[in-house]
Amino acid sequence: MKSQDVRKQFLDFFKSNGHLIVPSAPIVLKDDPTLMFNNSGMAQFKEYFLGNGTPKSKRIADTQKCLRVSGKHNDLEDVGFDTYHHTMFEMLGNWSFGDYFKKEAINWAWTLLTEVYKIPKENLYVSVFEGSKEDNVPFDQEAWDIWKTLIDEDRIILGNKKDNFWEMGDQGPCGPCSEIHVDLRSEEEKALVTGKSLVNNDHPQVVEIWNNVFMEFNRKADGSLEKLPAQHVDTGMGFERLCMALQGKTSNYDTDVFTPLIEKVEQITGLKYTADEIKNISEEQNKTNIAIRVIVDHVRAVAFAIADGQLPSNTGAGYVIRRILRRAIRYGFTFLNTKEPFINKLVEVLANQMGEFFPEIKSQQQLVTNVIREEEASFLRTLDQGLQLLDNVIAQTSGSEVSGAKAFELYDTFGFPKDLTALILKEKGMSFNEEEFDASMQEQKNRSRAASEVSTEDWSVLIPGNVETFVGYDQLENDVKITRIRKVDSKKDGILYQIVLDNTPFYPEGGGQVGDKGTLVSANETIEIIDTKKENNLILHFAKQLPENINASFTAKVDTALRFDSQSNHSATHLMHQALRAILGTHVEQKGSLVNPNYLRFDFSHFSKVTDAELKQVEDFVNARIQEQLPLIERRNIPIQQALDEGAMALFGEKYGDSVRAIKFGESMELCGGTHVKNTAEIWHFKIKSEGAVAAGIRRIEAITNQGVKDYFAKQESTLQEINEALKNPQDTIKAVVSLQDDNAKLKKQVEQLLKEKVGALKNELEKNFEVVNGINFLAKQVDLSMASTKELASVLGNSKADSFIVLASIEDGLPNIHCFISKELVAAKSLNANAVIKELGKYIDGNGGGQPFFASGKGKNANGIAEALSHAVEFVK
Ligand code: ALA
Repeated sequence: MKSQDVRKQFLDFFKSNGHLIVPSAPIVLKDDPTLMFNNSGMAQFKEYFLGNGTPKSKRIADTQKCLRVSGKHNDLEDVGFDTYHHTMFEMLGNWSFGDYFKKEAINWAWTLLTEVYKIPKENLYVSVFEGSKEDNVPFDQEAWDIWKTLIDEDRIILGNKKDNFWEMGDQGPCGPCSEIHVDLRSEEEKALVTGKSLVNNDHPQVVEIWNNVFMEFNRKADGSLEKLPAQHVDTGMGFERLCMALQGKTSNYDTDVFTPLIEKVEQITGLKYTADEIKNISEEQNKTNIAIRVIVDHVRAVAFAIADGQLPSNTGAGYVIRRILRRAIRYGFTFLNTKEPFINKLVEVLANQMGEFFPEIKSQQQLVTNVIREEEASFLRTLDQGLQLLDNVIAQTSGSEVSGAKAFELYDTFGFPKDLTALILKEKGMSFNEEEFDASMQEQKNRSRAASEVSTEDWSVLIPGNVETFVGYDQLENDVKITRIRKVDSKKDGILYQIVLDNTPFYPEGGGQVGDKGTLVSANETIEIIDTKKENNLILHFAKQLPENINASFTAKVDTALRFDSQSNHSATHLMHQALRAILGTHVEQKGSLVNPNYLRFDFSHFSKVTDAELKQVEDFVNARIQEQLPLIERRNIPIQQALDEGAMALFGEKYGDSVRAIKFGESMELCGGTHVKNTAEIWHFKIKSEGAVAAGIRRIEAITNQGVKDYFAKQESTLQEINEALKNPQDTIKAVVSLQDDNAKLKKQVEQLLKEKVGALKNELEKNFEVVNGINFLAKQVDLSMASTKELASVLGNSKADSFIVLASIEDGLPNIHCFISKELVAAKSLNANAVIKELGKYIDGNGGGQPFFASGKGKNANGIAEALSHAVEFVK
């Protein structure tokens, strides 16, 4: 069965059992500060388990792009070494939100696996939670009894908290689970060792394929469990492992999910990958296999993250993506001998293979390819530099052990990987001190952990069951009650309180627009709200202190000036987006956006620099829309398909519901949750401040509107005024400046000429002043020249007279300078050194300096010391 059909049959099965099929959420999470990437199918539904929102249907199924590379679920370091772990994988899942529970979930899972996919029952084992004293959760008798009706009891295994109690993170919804494992070994192997004894024992052919979680609890900050208001089902089946089972393979990498990618790597590198069934391969071939698995796995993770809007970068989620890609690059570099970018060439294969089900990868194929190619090129350069640095370290090392701190420095500062350092050293019969390396690593981890430590208290709920409404599109002030509060203590921000209201006019950060600031005012007190953010389905208002009476009635007041400036920048962003697509072409797509009261920043795909003329056109386009005074046409809750049919722009990597909000100004129409001006006239004026590159094929424009433009022009005007005043208010400023520059150039030339003449005249005069001391032509004099000219004179004089020793000094801007010229033949014959002379004589003028043995210069602070310095010069030749 082809992988495409495996996916389709799963979705069809649950559809026929009353489930709504939804698309995969983006791999990168936007409004969940507790999770960087989607690490399981349930992440996008978390709020429904907690009761903070209502799902579109009580039964949902999908295939979710997941990434397990950070946080509680992290498989990164295993990937490549085994045949069944991945960074990115697809999780097939079905959910019940307070609807069916264990009986239906277990029965459906069994029917699908054994009747639809026809996996032989004798190859399957299941596990049931044995209970936990610590958490006071009993053995899952109910699940056991249901399984008993389907499968021999000796195929049911009891599992502990580690294997059979599923938690998404340290806090949040969780519950006991039942896993289904498949035994893919040959009959001979099965006869030798029972499959049951290999379940949960890291055997590559006895693996878990499906996890059915029965969500009943919420894990609180203090580690205790509380019952959720309703019981839910959350399941996840590893798509790649299921394909392995159904395609009769013993490795995920031998299924059609990976073979096209592997073939491409083989074609590029000229190396061969051996399928899992080929045994007794050489050590060399094993390394090649591992590297190829790393690369074909990682390219999927990186490509999908980029397609969902997460570019590689130096911080946060972007940094994780960069590290995954770099891991792939260095496996290629070390084991496949690839010294040129090549991973980007796999994107085309990936797009052909998965583009039908995940259109984002097809439509952004070029961009993803470019970004990966650029990253590869840059990291290969780093590796090259690292190799040179390592050579230096080796040269400075006596003995065969390089210091671990040095190896760590290479790793930390230049991204030069530890195992590569070890490998290169090994080839030279050397090693590095691992203990020292690990200690440095630990030290650094402790530092960054301390810096990022956050402790979050549980919510204290004042008004239960309330689902907050956002009223801030229509109102900037509203009467509110506090429904819940929580204290968060972080190293970064100190103690902050998060406040949730029953309804709120505060816009929470989202769609690039920053969160509102403002106040909560009661009869007796005023609380400052310093930021507003969304977490799952809650709107969190951040305050440095809580009101004394948290049960009071408050008026929530948004800071209208800041909000107004933000929305002016937001509406202008839409108009600029439209302008860019009209002027540069429809390949322009939004890749990032920041809108705050001060300015707007917009990242978009475009292959070359935007020229000044094009920028001017964009400005004119936007300003024309402002002048047309286009009214805002806002439509809330329209069906997404209708909005798209009408030409609304949707963004990749953004999660949209079935009904959306559309924002229209004239011909510009976007799906958007942000706040906007009521009429483009309110933007007043639009001005681009800068344009540049952020990554391969991605440009960034920063621009200002409204008050920002007023401030900008006011500043320009006052600068111009100051210039005019300095120029004595000429009639034509530009003419005046140009003539000033012309005059300046002319005068410069004249001064140069005069100086030359003066140096020439002085040279003639001083030539007569040489004394012969010990057969050396000696001269020490103060002259009336600039420092540069004095230096030149010393050199001109010296070069025209053999066997000369010259010291010249002068004063420029009140400060002394001194120069020493010694003929080269004297330097050698008499071991004279101008450097030493300047060092010594410099003492008299409170100065220092240096140069070369035949010419050195110094500067000092005490001009009164010149005479004494010159009087001592003769001692060197005596
Ligand atoms: N959420 C469960 C898991 O990821 C199904 O295993």
